[in-house]
Amino acid sequence: MPDFIADLPKAELHVHLEGTLEPEMSFALAQRNGVELPYDSPEAVIAAYDFHDLPSFLTIYYKAMEVLVSEQDFFDLTYAYLKKAREQNVLYCEPFFDPQAHTTRGVPFATVISGIHKAQEQARTDLGIESQLIMCFLRDMSAESAMETLQASLSFKDWIVGVGLDSDEKNNPPSKFAEVFQQARAHGYKLTMHCDVHQHNTHEHIRQVLDDIIVDRIDHGINTLDRSELYSEVARRGLGLTVCPVSNRFVVQNLTTAEIRRMLELGMRATINSDDPAYFRAYMNENLQALVDDGMTRDEIAQLTRNAFEVAWLPTDRRDHYL
Ligand code: HPA
Ligand code: ZN
Repeated sequence: MPDFIADLPKAELHVHLEGTLEPEMSFALAQRNGVELPYDSPEAVIAAYDFHDLPSFLTIYYKAMEVLVSEQDFFDLTYAYLKKAREQNVLYCEPFFDPQAHTTRGVPFATVISGIHKAQEQARTDLGIESQLIMCFLRDMSAESAMETLQASLSFKDWIVGVGLDSDEKNNPPSKFAEVFQQARAHGYKLTMHCDVHQHNTHEHIRQVLDDIIVDRIDHGINTLDRSELYSEVARRGLGLTVCPVSNRFVVQNLTTAEIRRMLELGMRATINSDDPAYFRAYMNENLQALVDDGMTRDEIAQLTRNAFEVAWLPTDRRDHYL
């Protein structure tokens, strides 16, 4: 790993906390909570990872998170990620969480967010890493369920900077959640949505996030490059794009180095992120290293890293502190 990657002060804007659940922690939590795991060892868990598209990843991801039950579990998960990120010189991050993946299993919203929030506070004090939480709705659940989740979040509004949309994109367009996102904005939340790579109807989904939802950022967004009316609008607005190269290598068998380079050439504010680092076996530095191994230059890496601080949802004084 070149020192310049390790030493760069970094920001991460696209990481699912549930996607940071390392197999070793799965085993520890399973034991603590009396949950049976169908594997003998953490190595066997990793050997069973077989992702070739978004649905095959999501099946494994949702099943594995059943070991997360108590506030302490969410604390431990979050703190471990923040510690790992800080060790890689990530100074600021905006992690996602998926409350519906827990409330549907009977874990109260307050349990989930309290554990996460306490870990954020402790990591800020003890490790010097700043973070702001983004709440994602699961797009393969109903708009009513998303609306209930939005309502549940309002008691914890000060702990959440924005809302996102993740899970299976097929037949779940942004427009399904237009009302939910409009209300979220009225409550002061920033807005982002996943436009995953090469999904069914992706161009129409991107059009909707730009014209109808009017997002503040786009997660992934690689397919903006296919249409000039999409990429020119993203560039014109200076919208951030949270690209996840190693995730892309798993989900669409393409690290998307050429696409990321093209975004920079077009003046789009692309950023590099890990998405689900425990599953894709790559945190921030490994994502940047994969790009360097694929020919990306030091200047490009520096620009991508700078972009992340520029499009972070930070007040101007905090942003200037990092830049
Ligand atoms: N895409 C959609 N949903 C997700 C992802 C992703 O990459 N990771 C976790 N949930
Ligand atoms: Zn994601």
